Amino acid sequence: MARTLIALISGSSRGLGLETARQLAARGYRVVLTGRDGLAGKAAADKLTGEGHDVVHHPLDVDHDHSVRRLAAFIADDPRLGHLDVLVNNAGIFPERDPQTGTGPAALETPLKTVRQTWETNCLGALRLTQAVVPLMRRHGYGRIVNISSGYGQLDGMGGGFVGYRLSKAGINVLTRVLAAELQPEGILVNAIDPGWLPTRMGGPKATGSTAAAAADVVWAATLRGDSPTGRLFHDRRPMPW
Ligand SMILES: NC(=O)c1ccc[n+]([C@@H]2O[C@H](COP(=O)([O-])OP(=O)(O)OC[C@H]3O[C@@H](n4cnc5c(N)ncnc54)[C@H](OP(=O)(O)O)[C@@H]3O)[C@@H](O)[C@H]2O)c1
Repeated sequence: MARTLIALISGSSRGLGLETARQLAARGYRVVLTGRDGLAGKAAADKLTGEGHDVVHHPLDVDHDHSVRRLAAFIADDPRLGHLDVLVNNAGIFPERDPQTGTGPAALETPLKTVRQTWETNCLGALRLTQAVVPLMRRHGYGRIVNISSGYGQLDGMGGGFVGYRLSKAGINVLTRVLAAELQPEGILVNAIDPGWLPTRMGGPKATGSTAAAAADVVWAATLRGDSPTGRLFHDRRPMPW
C-alpha cells in the first residue's frame, strides 16, 4: 500500500499558507496546518476538513524552540503522521510596511528591534523549523522543502527601503542554496518561490497577484520529480536571478 504523503506548512491559518494547504490537500496530501493562534488554526483546519480535505492542526510559533520541538515530536509520534514529505517555510511578517500607505522608513531610521524581529521569524524561524523536521524526511530518504521568498530579497536590482524584510528574504535565499547543497545527496530538494504581490493580510487589498496561482506554484515546487532542479529561486515557475 502506498504511504500517505505528509506536508507541513508554517503560518497556514490564512493567506498564502492556507491556500497552499488547501491545494496540497486536494493533491492527496495529509496536511499539517499550523498557526500561532491555536483557535484560528483550528478554525482554518476545520474549514478545510469540511471541504473534504485530510488536515491535521497543530499550533506553531517558529520564533520559539519549544514550539518547534513540540510540533516535530507531535509529527513523529502521531499515528496518522510519523514522517514528513513536504515542508513549506511560509510563516512571515513585514512590520516595516505601513498597511495603509505601503511605505516604510529608510534603513537609517528603521528600529533595530524591528529588523531583529523580522529576521527572527522570516529567516531563523525557517532554519529552526527545517532543523527540527528534516530527520522526519530522512525516515524515507525523500523530501521537498519550499522557502517562501520575495522580490524584496533579490540582490539583483535591489533598491532602498524595507531593510529588515529585505535582509530576512535575502537570508532565506541563502538558506535555500546552503540547504539544497547539503540535502541533495539525501533526495531532498530545496527551492525558493517569489510569490509576487498578493492580496493577503500582508500584501493588502490593492495587490495585483493571485494567491491561488502563487499557491499552485508552491505546490509545483513541493511536488517536483527527483531529477528536478534544487537550490533555485522561481517566480511563475521560471528561474530568477538571486
Ligand atoms: N503578500 C505578499 O504580497 C507577499 C509577497 C512576497 C512574499 N510573501 C511571503 O509570503 C508568505 C505568506 O505571507 P502572506 O502574504 O500569506 O501573509 P499573511 O496573510 O500575513 O500570513 C502570514 C502567516 O505567517 C504567520 N506567522 C507570522 N509570524 C509567525 C510565527 N512567528 N510563527 C508562525 N507563523 C507565523 C501568520 O500567522 P498568525 O495568524 O499567527 O499571525 C500568518 O499565518 C510570507 O513569508 C511572506 O513574506 C508575501
